[in-house]
Amino acid sequence: MKILITGAAGFIGSHLTDALLDAGHEIVAVDNLSMGRMENLAVAEKSKNFSFNKLDVLDYDDLLACASGVERIVHLAAFKIPRYGKAIDTLVINNLGTVNVLKLAGELDCKTVIASTSDVYGKSSALPFNEEGDLLIGAPSKPRWSYAVSKMYDEHLALASMAAYGYPVTLLRFFGSYGPRHHLSWWGGPQSVFIDKVLRGEVIPIHGDGQQTRSFTYIADTVRGIVAATLKDSANGEVLNIGSTREITIEKLARMIHSLIPDAPELKLEFIPYEDVAKNYEDVMRRIPDDTKCFKLLGVRAKVSLEEGLLPTIQWQRKELNL
Ligand SMILES: NC(=O)c1ccc[n+]([C@@H]2O[C@H](COP(=O)([O-])OP(=O)(O)OC[C@H]3O[C@@H](n4cnc5c(N)ncnc54)[C@H](O)[C@@H]3O)[C@@H](O)[C@H]2O)c1
Repeated sequence: MKILITGAAGFIGSHLTDALLDAGHEIVAVDNLSMGRMENLAVAEKSKNFSFNKLDVLDYDDLLACASGVERIVHLAAFKIPRYGKAIDTLVINNLGTVNVLKLAGELDCKTVIASTSDVYGKSSALPFNEEGDLLIGAPSKPRWSYAVSKMYDEHLALASMAAYGYPVTLLRFFGSYGPRHHLSWWGGPQSVFIDKVLRGEVIPIHGDGQQTRSFTYIADTVRGIVAATLKDSANGEVLNIGSTREITIEKLARMIHSLIPDAPELKLEFIPYEDVAKNYEDVMRRIPDDTKCFKLLGVRAKVSLEEGLLPTIQWQRKELNL
């Protein structure tokens, strides 16, 4: 199948590209390289079934020009939580990018898989989070919610487009994906920063009291979910959680990473009050997916344990940082 992936040079996109090429598909990769890196596509670039297009998904004509013969689109290009960036980028890119991708899907009459996020559940206390559950986000005076708002809009737009025009869509809410090639900053998630600090023997900064929880999902598990959603039709018109059901506090994550690095110096933790993290910041205190629907419709669920997934991630990051 000929598959167009937006955000292909990013963390998830590059692993998805490798997996689909391995399975014999042809990949049309799209990325503006704002956050992605060509190094992530070093293996893919050797394949005759791979082509790369440096373009912005906000430019519809550029997208259309590279999409001839495309049978599936996976839309991953997006801007994440604006902790240190601008909420305007998150809102505009995640809104207009998806408008363009769905317009392209209409033009090509093809199925689209769109990345959403666990962040849409926001402060909901209905754990584990089920796809039919209510989404509870904070006030617009807290810019971090712009990310959840943008992805909620994407979900509605995609489902409304399918209802109006008939071409299929699947929405995937990812839960904390990590692994080799994650960004070496908070953009890549707390595990990326914690590994960095432990390897350097520096203090691990923990936001709040560290008792907030997350469900970390190894990249291979995230990718298995995306591949199944892309190739199968059983989740057309559906929103699915893609994530591990193992819940862990952020403090325990820091301690686990330290314990997996045998030559690490003594553990040093620093708890940073939220008001010092970012202006008007608000955190999600607990996050666990209900993975029943994903397993029922796609036959996949996360199976790599956190310890198993962190080991190759640490090894990769050590090499990357030369430490
Ligand atoms: N990594 C996670 O744990 C996680 C969790 C929830 C949701 N998601 C979603 O999954 C998707 C992929 O996330 P990721 O972690 O791989 O992020 P990433 O930042 O590594 O990848 C996104 C890619 O999109 C590209 N991009 C951004 N704006 C673009 C534009 N206007 N035009 C073209 N390319 C553009 C970036 O250069 C980058 O390569 C995103 O939609 C994100 O919101 C990720």
